[in-house]
Amino acid sequence: MTPENHTVNVHAPRIGWTDDPFVTNPCPPLSWKTTTTLPSWMQAATDLAITRDGTTATVRIDGSESVLVTWPFAPLKPGESARIRVRVYGKDGSASSWSPSAEVIAGFLPPDAWHARFIGSGSEAPHLVRGTFDVHGTVRRALLRSTAFGAYDIRINDIPADDSELKPGWTSYQWRVNLDVADVTAHIRPGRNALGITLTGGWYTERFGFRDAACRFYEGAPAAAAQLTLEYEDGTVDTVITDERWRWTRAPVVSASLYQGEIYDARLQTPGWSSPSFDDSDWDTVQIVAVPEVTPSMRSLPPVRVIEHRAVERVLTTPSGKTVLDFGQNLVGRIRIRVTGERGHTVTLRHAEVLEHGELGTRPLRNAAATDRYTLSGDGEEFWEPKWTFHGFRYVEVDNWPGPFTPEHVSAAVIHTDMARTGDFTTSHALLQRLHENVVWGMRGNFLSIPTDCPQRDERLGWTGDIQVFAPTAAFLYDCDAFLRSWLEDVMLEQRAAGGIAPMVVPAVIPQVPGLFEPIAAWGDAITIVPAVLWERFADDDILKRSFDAMTTWVDVVEARAGSTLLWEESLQFGDWLDPDAPPERPGEAKTDAGIVATAYFFRSAELTAKTAALLGREADARHYADLAERIARAFRSAYITPRGRMMSDAPTAYTLAIVFGLVHGEQRQAMGNRLRDLVRSAGYRITTGFVGTPIICDALTTTGHAAAASRLLTQTECPSWLYPVTMGATTVWERWDSMLEDGSINPGQMTSFNHYALGAVADWLHRSVAGLAPLEPAYRVIRIAPILLDDLDDASAWHETPYGRARAGWRREGAKVYFHAEIPPNTQAIVELPSGTRHEVGSGVHTWVEVHPPNSLPRSPLNLRSSLATIIDDRQAHEAVLNAIRSIDESRAETFRRTTRWRPGRELREPLDKAPVTILAAVEQALAALPTCDPVVQQAALPAPDPARSGH
Ligand code: BGC
Repeated sequence: MTPENHTVNVHAPRIGWTDDPFVTNPCPPLSWKTTTTLPSWMQAATDLAITRDGTTATVRIDGSESVLVTWPFAPLKPGESARIRVRVYGKDGSASSWSPSAEVIAGFLPPDAWHARFIGSGSEAPHLVRGTFDVHGTVRRALLRSTAFGAYDIRINDIPADDSELKPGWTSYQWRVNLDVADVTAHIRPGRNALGITLTGGWYTERFGFRDAACRFYEGAPAAAAQLTLEYEDGTVDTVITDERWRWTRAPVVSASLYQGEIYDARLQTPGWSSPSFDDSDWDTVQIVAVPEVTPSMRSLPPVRVIEHRAVERVLTTPSGKTVLDFGQNLVGRIRIRVTGERGHTVTLRHAEVLEHGELGTRPLRNAAATDRYTLSGDGEEFWEPKWTFHGFRYVEVDNWPGPFTPEHVSAAVIHTDMARTGDFTTSHALLQRLHENVVWGMRGNFLSIPTDCPQRDERLGWTGDIQVFAPTAAFLYDCDAFLRSWLEDVMLEQRAAGGIAPMVVPAVIPQVPGLFEPIAAWGDAITIVPAVLWERFADDDILKRSFDAMTTWVDVVEARAGSTLLWEESLQFGDWLDPDAPPERPGEAKTDAGIVATAYFFRSAELTAKTAALLGREADARHYADLAERIARAFRSAYITPRGRMMSDAPTAYTLAIVFGLVHGEQRQAMGNRLRDLVRSAGYRITTGFVGTPIICDALTTTGHAAAASRLLTQTECPSWLYPVTMGATTVWERWDSMLEDGSINPGQMTSFNHYALGAVADWLHRSVAGLAPLEPAYRVIRIAPILLDDLDDASAWHETPYGRARAGWRREGAKVYFHAEIPPNTQAIVELPSGTRHEVGSGVHTWVEVHPPNSLPRSPLNLRSSLATIIDDRQAHEAVLNAIRSIDESRAETFRRTTRWRPGRELREPLDKAPVTILAAVEQALAALPTCDPVVQQAALPAPDPARSGH
C-alpha cells in the first residue's frame, strides 16, 4: 500500500532507443521512469502488459531494472503494432497505477519483402518523380517506407509524409542506407492516389576532399525508392512500389549542394505536381538507376528537423555598402524568406560565421560557396527556405532584395537531428555561462545526421577523434544514444573494410587524403571509447555487444603496429592536435610526443576492451586484454616516466594522459600532478594543450589536489583560453584557440572554423566535477555527487535527465557558507562527498547541506621584485598590479612581459625584468608595496569557525 498523501507515478514506457513508435527490432528493450513523493524510493517489481491483436498479456519482472530492460514478450512480427503499459511496485510496499500506454509499431519488413526499385532521371540534377495508384476499399493502415541515395522528401496526395529534413541522412552508403517509415493512413483516399518525391544529391553527390582534390566519392545519379503497404479492413494487402512506370520532370530546385548552396527558380514550380489529378503526360519516364547493392534498413536515430526559428537581430551596412543580417548566434541551418517582386528577379544569400573588417568573412569556408539564390515567380508574396543544403552562419549578406529590405520577412531555421535535450549547467559567472551555451550550440550544429567536426566549410566530416573527446559532454546535453549507435554501425562497417582500422573519418569519403586508413590514436580509438561512453551514460549494453569484436580488432591492429615494445610510435599520428604552441600550419607538431599520446590511448583501448569483455562474461578475453593493458602501462612508465615522476615530454598533455587514464599511481601520480600544476602555472594559466589534453586537463588537476590551478585555467580570458573566444563575442566553440585574432582578423591558417565542438569537451568536467553530477554506475543508477568549489566561481549547478529521471546537483556560496543541493531520481541512489570530506549515502528526493568554506585567499606577505614568480602569478591582484605598473610606462613591454614570462617557482620577478629601465622596476616595486598584505575578502568575511590552516595573519 502506498502511504497516504504520497503518489507513485510511472510514465508510459519507452520502447527501443528513441521516442519514436516505430522500432527497428523485434525485441526492443523497454525503459520506464517513476516519479514519486516517497523518499528513497526503489523499485521491487514491475508488471508489463502488452496488448496485441485485441488480447492483453502481462508479465511480472522482479527487481529494480528499469532501463533498457530485455523485451519480455514474444518477438514483434514485421508490421505488427501493439500497446505497452507498465506498473511498478516499490520496496517500501508502494505501488503505482498502470501507466498510460505507449504505442509500438514494428516498422521493419520481413526478409525479402523490399521490392521497390531505385528510380530517378539518371542525372545529378534535382528532379521530381511521381507515380499513382488506386485504392479499392477501406484502408485500415498505410505504411510508407522510403529512402534514397541522395536527399529526398516524399509527399502523398500533395501532403508531406513527415516533417523531417535531408532524408534519409548520411550513412556509409556503400553498405548501409536508412529506410524512413511513416504512417500515412490519414492521407489515403478512395480511388486514385499519388506519391511524389523531390530528389536531390545531398551527401551522395557531394564533392569531398580538400582544395582541387575534392571529388565525388559515391558514384552514380541520385535515386529514390518507396514502398507503400496498404492494409485493407478485409485483411487483404496491396503493395505500391517505385518502378519503371513512374515519371519525372525537372524541379524548381535548379541545383543543390550541401557545400555550395541551393539555387531555386520559382518560375519552374509545378503546383499540385504530387496530387492524383495532376496531368503528368509531358513528364519523362524514369530510369531504374544503378545504386549500391544494399537493402535499406530502418532508420534507428531520430530524423533531422527544423528545430527553431530565429529572428534577425541587427541589419548592418558593411563598409563596402552591402546589407548583412546578424542573427546574433552562430548556428546551422538556413534562411527562410518572404518576398514580393517581379518575375525573374533573383535574391542572393551568402552565409558566413564571422565578419572581418566589417565584411562577410568567407575565407574559412574554403571551397564551400554557402550561397543560396532564389528567383521569384512574381506571383504575389512568395515564401522560400532552401531544403537541400545547410550552412554554418551567423551573418547573411543579402543581395538584390526587391524593394526596401524588411528584416521581419527573414528568419533563420536551425536544423539538426531532433534529440531530446537532457542537461544543462548554470553559473552566475557570465563568461563561463556563455562558454557552456557555446558548447551546446557547437553540439547542435554538429549533430546533423552524423557527428561532424564542423558544419560550415568544405569538410563537415565524421572525424572520429572529435566525437571521441566530445561524446561524454554530448551524452549529458542531449539524448544521443540512438544517434551515436547509428554512426557506430558505420564505423564498424568502415573498419571491417579497412582490415580492422577504424578510419579517421566515418563515412570514410576522402580516400585521396593520405592516411585515411591508417590507425591514428585518439581518432581510431573512438571505436572503443564511444561505446564505453554509451554504456556509462545510458547503460546501453547492446552497443557493447555489437561493438565488442570491433574493439578487440582495433586493439589487435594497434598491438601489431606497436610490436614487442608495446610503444605505439612508428606511424602517422595527429597527436595532441592543435596544441597552441604548434606552428599554425603544422597543427600535429605538439609539445607532447605523439608516441606518448598513442601509447596512452593504446592502453586506454586495451583496458576498455578488457572491461567490456568482463561485462559480457567473456572471461578469457577479459584476462587477455587486462594483461595486455597492464603490460602497456609498464612499457609506458618505463619508456616515458622517470622514477621521480617527470615525463619525457615535459608538457601538460603528457601528464594529463598519464594521470587521467590511470597509467600512474601513488606518489608518482601525485608528483606528476604537482608537475602539471607547475607547468600550467608557468604558462600563466593560459592553455597549452590541444584536442587530446584540453578535455581532461582539469580532471588531472583536480584529482591531484590542484583545484585552484584548474579554476585559474578555466576562468582565464587571455588567449589561449576557453574564455578568450567568449570575450571576442564567440557564440560557438572555435576550432583554434585563436580562430579570431585579438585584432579582429581571422586566423590566416587554412583550417579555421568557428564551430568545432572538440575543445568544448571540458563541459563534461563542469557537469561531473564542478556542479558535481557524475554517473558512478551506468545510466546514473548510482550517482556520485562530489562538487569541487572553484575559487573563481560563486555557484555552479547542473541538471540531467538520466534514464531514471531528473537529477540535479550544485552549490552556491554566501559569504563563508556554501549551500549544496541535490535531487536524486527514484530507483537510484547517490554517494555524496562534500568538500569538507563528509560522505552521505542518499536515496531519491531533494537533499540540501551547508558547509563553511571561507573564500580561498592566500595570506599575502609583503611582495617585491625578489618575490617568486609563482607567488606573483598565483595572486591575481599582484599579477595585475605588476602588469599595470609596466603598462603605465611602456605598453609594448607590458605586452611582451605578459606573453613571454614563464611563471616558474624558484625564480624571482626581477629575472624577466632584468633588462627593464629603472623607472619600470621602481613602478613595479611601488605597485607591489601598495598591495594590502592580507586579503580584504578574508578580513571582511564573518568566519564562524576560523580554519587554523588559514589563520595566523
Ligand atoms: C578537422 C578536425 C580533425 C582534424 C584531424 C581537421 O580538418 O576539422 O577536427 O579531427 O582535421 O586531422
